[in-house]
Amino acid sequence: MREEFLDPGLHHDREASEEAGLRPRELDEFVGQQELKNHLDIVLGAARQRGEAADHILLAGPPGLGKTTMAGIVAAEMGVALHVTSGPALERAGDLAAILTKLGHRDVLFIDEIHRLSRVVEEILYPAMEDFQLDIVVGKGPAASSIRLTLQPFTLVGATTRTGMITGPLRDRFGLVARLEYYSTLELERIVTRAASILGVSIDATGASEIARRSRGTPRIANRLLRRVRDFAEVRADGRITTGVALEALELFGVDELGLDKVDRAILKALCSQFSGGPVGLSTLAIAVGEQPETIEDVYEPFLIQNGLIQRTPRGRVATDASWRYAESP
Ligand SMILES: Nc1ncnc2c1ncn2[C@@H]1O[C@H](COP(=O)(O)OP(=O)(O)OP(=O)(O)O)[C@@H](O)[C@H]1O
Ligand SMILES: [Mg+2]
Repeated sequence: MREEFLDPGLHHDREASEEAGLRPRELDEFVGQQELKNHLDIVLGAARQRGEAADHILLAGPPGLGKTTMAGIVAAEMGVALHVTSGPALERAGDLAAILTKLGHRDVLFIDEIHRLSRVVEEILYPAMEDFQLDIVVGKGPAASSIRLTLQPFTLVGATTRTGMITGPLRDRFGLVARLEYYSTLELERIVTRAASILGVSIDATGASEIARRSRGTPRIANRLLRRVRDFAEVRADGRITTGVALEALELFGVDELGLDKVDRAILKALCSQFSGGPVGLSTLAIAVGEQPETIEDVYEPFLIQNGLIQRTPRGRVATDASWRYAESP
């Protein structure tokens, strides 16, 4: 039941179009991440004044915090077109060349999961980012020759959940590198209230804050929970989300106090029961819950650490009082 709240792939058409409607389109509409917004305000403002493409921007952080949304905002604020692709979609050099040559003056190219670019593609990207030059090899063997094309100046926005996997040379070519942080409950409350008004749902302040508290610091989860609570309100009440309706719905859908999902819970249970509270190494813990160590480290652990549910020590991961309390609760 719970993974649907986290997994971006698992939603229906109606929800997909609703989610698109909830995406903030301007910097001012984007809740939270104040430091990043301040930086972008200056970087984009300066580029606009000079009539140049904005510097390349790398956005890192766990899923659902607004990286794709921010890429759209950069294009909108610059008044240019947004072109979207992803690391795994760019298999061969030609795939990237085809996209780069189509870019208009100052356009934004968004590459999602940029840590998954292949080496060959990454190497073509360097001169494109630096000098807006594209070197392509035509023909094979001794007859092969290389042509140099000049590209329109563009802004690359890269997104990654895995900062550690971005190679140094790639990282160095971004003018702005930002890490998105988990949102506070207050910020999530504002996101829920804003989304409710776009969806045309009436919600009271406490109802919004109950949803916000269980959203795992993540706007995507907040919006999903809001939609489930709305469904419940429509079927079991008069459609309005009051505090009572919100609490009943969240209980029914099995969303726990912290909004932890199945994998979060499995990690805490394994740490406490199977490894007696640790210390346990990352890869051992990952095997126990059937996930990649990188996924644990980048997607799950940051939230658990921030909330005092796991401690990271030089000898491995260790349970805290809070993890024991959590793992022992039903
Ligand atoms: N700061 C924000 N204010 C309001 N809504 C937000 C904000 N950030 C994200 N959202 C909402 O959360 C949803 C998920 O955001 P988005 O798709 O941009 O995340 P992401 O970081 O790209 O995730 P992934 O890593 O899974 O691709 C968006 O549809 C948007 O409605
Ligand atoms: Mg995204």
